[in-house]
Amino acid sequence: MMIEFKNEPFTDFSKEENRKAFETALLKVKAEMGKEYDIIIGGERIKTGRKVKSINPSNVDEVIGIVNEADTELAEKAMQTAYETFKSWKKVKPEARASLLFKAAAILRRKKHEFSAWMVLEAGKSWVEADADTAEAIDFMEFYGREMIRLSERQPLVRIPGEDNHLYYRPLGVGAIIPPWNFPLAILVGMTTSAIVTGNTVVLKPATPTNVIAAKFMEVLHEAGVPDGVVNYVPGPGGEVGEYFVTHPLTRFISFTGSKEVGLRINELAAKRAPGQKWIKRVIAEMGGKDGIVVDSDCDLDFAAETIVKSAFGFSGQKCSACSRVIAHQDIYDELLEKVVAKTSQLKVGEAQTPGIDLGPVVDEKAYNKILEYIEIGKKEGRLMTGGGKAEGNGYFIQPTVFADVAPDARIAQEEIFGPVVAFIKAKDFDHALEIANNTEFGLTGSVISRNRLHLEKAREEFFVGNLYFNRKCTGALVGVHPFGGFNMSGTDSKAGGRDYLLLFTQAQVVSEQL
Ligand code: NAD
Ligand code: ALA
Repeated sequence: MMIEFKNEPFTDFSKEENRKAFETALLKVKAEMGKEYDIIIGGERIKTGRKVKSINPSNVDEVIGIVNEADTELAEKAMQTAYETFKSWKKVKPEARASLLFKAAAILRRKKHEFSAWMVLEAGKSWVEADADTAEAIDFMEFYGREMIRLSERQPLVRIPGEDNHLYYRPLGVGAIIPPWNFPLAILVGMTTSAIVTGNTVVLKPATPTNVIAAKFMEVLHEAGVPDGVVNYVPGPGGEVGEYFVTHPLTRFISFTGSKEVGLRINELAAKRAPGQKWIKRVIAEMGGKDGIVVDSDCDLDFAAETIVKSAFGFSGQKCSACSRVIAHQDIYDELLEKVVAKTSQLKVGEAQTPGIDLGPVVDEKAYNKILEYIEIGKKEGRLMTGGGKAEGNGYFIQPTVFADVAPDARIAQEEIFGPVVAFIKAKDFDHALEIANNTEFGLTGSVISRNRLHLEKAREEFFVGNLYFNRKCTGALVGVHPFGGFNMSGTDSKAGGRDYLLLFTQAQVVSEQL
């Protein structure tokens, strides 16, 4: 009997033994920094003349690793390899594919702190955020392994006399896996393993800022015994290697998580039939957010302030789910603002490896400049309450920033900043708050903090987001508990970590036999 799925527990860093273990992992990873990572196609390790450095965003003089990048010739080789490997991989029994995921999960669990340490150093995650990312990666594999077994069982169909009917979930073919850098392990692992456990093979083009973590996960898959060619590791520029895969006639599906701009472009390119292409490409695209927390007049304001600060500034606001707008009832607006500003100004910004910091750096120079530009826009669109610029350090550090009195249609209230910046918007009443909350092109997450049952029930019906939370932060979806995906321009609402997710990587075939 299959052991029931349970979420991987988070590490309690208040315990000294856990802190020591994490420090040891950081030292181990530091000793490995600066190594070179190859492209991996069909198990073959390939070096190229094109190498890209992965940098520690907390200390830009530190090189995490040097990664060989592919060009379109190698992308073609990867595609052909994945296509050939599909012919044998699709015949491997679902239980056998699932058991490889369970093995990979066990390996990752054993090396948990080591993987989290890589994320601290390469992505600038705090210990706590990195630990949650690794736990989620383990969860995805445990969950999708079980889901595949469930889907491989006889599916319930209405029985009619004189016929025997079966429904099978068949794999699709070769998938292009294009993940973001902000959950460099969890999202990459979820997107990759959901595709392979269902019998597909993939070309994996990791996000450049976190190429090394992706290479480390390739080591896990190898150790678990995933056959060569099932996952092909093909780092390279998104606009070149990513688009090559998206437009390739052998690509059967694209699983993308990233920005709205890139997601829409992929969707458009994938819709065009390439010469020789035999199918309509399936696009799974999970994109950005402009997530709001609605605070009602009847609530615990200390709790609301704490919830806002956690949701807005965890991982420096670099989550698609992060709160970037607070929509507060006019009766409590000033008091709430004061509490949030007080809490925000106490947050500690520092190198991600320092235990106890609240915010590390943002991921790279591009993100740093973009966020600082939005802060300047915010200074014109609202009242700067705290933060408002760079923070100290030899990395991409930004102060957690709060703007008050922002108009609902201001740029900082509408556009995804993807950094530690939050805009306060005043609402006349609860209905007005919901109206403001819904007035973006996105629809990913949202929270309502209220004691008013009628208001919560109204929000349940009218707050149009894929993941809606009541009296809780708007980040931190758990696999199996909160299937995750957004409405509108936030994506295709794939609900990663839910029971519907694997179906996206399959096509159902019905076989009917007259008796
Ligand atoms: P991004 O769109 O810049 O890049 C995502 C991936 O696409 C990367 O691997 C990149 O190399 C690749 N890429 C870039 N241009 C491409 C092209 N023309 N063709 C094919 N591939 C291309 O996003 P990012 O900066 O890595 O991640 C941050 C974004 O991801 C934010 O908008 C965030 O909201 C979103 N995100 C969404 C979710 C979700 O579940 N909805 C989760 C995490 C992140
Ligand atoms: N799944 C992530 C969260 O819920 C993005 O915060």
